[in-house]
Amino acid sequence: MKERGFKIYAPEEQEPDKESDVFFNDKMIKNRDLSTAAAKIFRDQVELNEFRSCDALSASGIRGFRISDISDKVFFNDSNPLAVESIEKGLEANGIDPSKVELSNSNANVFLSDNKNLFHYIDIDPFGSFLEFLDSTARAANHQSFVGLTATDNAVTSGSYKKTCIRRYGSTPLKNSFMHETGLRIYLKETFENFARFDKEFDPKICWHERHYSRVSGRVTESKQRANNSTENIGYLSFCPKCRWRKLERKNKCGNCGNTDLKLAGPLWTGKFIDQRFTKKMKEKIPDSWEDSKQLLDRIDSEAELITPFYDLHELCSNIGISSPKREAVTEAIREKGYPVSRTHFSPTGFRTDAPIEDIKDIIKELN
Ligand SMILES: C[S@@+](CC[C@H](N)C(=O)[O-])C[C@H]1O[C@@H](n2cnc3c(N)ncnc32)[C@H](O)[C@@H]1O
Repeated sequence: MKERGFKIYAPEEQEPDKESDVFFNDKMIKNRDLSTAAAKIFRDQVELNEFRSCDALSASGIRGFRISDISDKVFFNDSNPLAVESIEKGLEANGIDPSKVELSNSNANVFLSDNKNLFHYIDIDPFGSFLEFLDSTARAANHQSFVGLTATDNAVTSGSYKKTCIRRYGSTPLKNSFMHETGLRIYLKETFENFARFDKEFDPKICWHERHYSRVSGRVTESKQRANNSTENIGYLSFCPKCRWRKLERKNKCGNCGNTDLKLAGPLWTGKFIDQRFTKKMKEKIPDSWEDSKQLLDRIDSEAELITPFYDLHELCSNIGISSPKREAVTEAIREKGYPVSRTHFSPTGFRTDAPIEDIKDIIKELN
């Protein structure tokens, strides 16, 4: 198989899973495209004599192959010996200089913990949650580094398994139309806090949710001061199930209808999870031929500055009790009223705005 010109040695399977000899899921291409593009932007931003990258859960090694051109040294690791064989074959077939590669067949936690502060780029792409690798990743991250982590336990953080979420992440999720944004903010809180324990600040650059996974990625610096300051981005989300008002603050009463029976989620990340200066650079560099990934990046970039969790048009219309006008007409009318508004990558029927909910509802009613 091939991805973006790189040869991969893994069985071709419809539904690859934990039992696969060597795991490779071609449907995760957008995750790998944006992860690679982000790593490249970070590489452009730092001046280092030796840029060391680590693909800690490599499987076929595809992520490591794809960042080999920006790295002076790439460390591949997987606990599965068959994966290590695949990586060896891939390295040769892709003509990657063996002198810039280190290959290991260890438990990722042991491998990362043994390499304290070594890596400038770390990719964590496990089965399920990245939680069990967070501490060792924070240890292994250099004081100037970029870290990306994938999680596929999204049913937990989006509220289908509330108790599991509280146990794993110490956070209460919220199952509603924007549950995946709440989930992403829970992942981000957990990542930030873990790095902060090591006096390192995790500064989110591009975080997103797609299909069955979420990806958290950001820049790491060793700064107690910055980590202290960013703790103000940890808080709660209040949601009114009656009128659908939402705010990234802990409230006792709905700011719109006065309902006192609010739903609360958190603790979670209440700040921005996209840095538009960073995504703009990614947009300049991402190849035009990566069409789907480019479209995803455009959506993510467009909603970077708007903090209020997104609205789902259909859900809002059913709350008002009317049929749904076209999303484009709604966002256009919100813009005409002078409010910032964007689409959201989370949902094709979603939009993001800081406009008060009553104004949004009035606009929808007028259009209807
Ligand atoms: C989801 S796959 C990685 C997919 C790959 N990054 C890609 O983009 O195609 C997870 C990999 O982690 C490996 N793995 C699972 N637990 C591990 C551990 N504790 N230490 C090292 N490797 C582990 C598995 O053998 C598997 O190859």
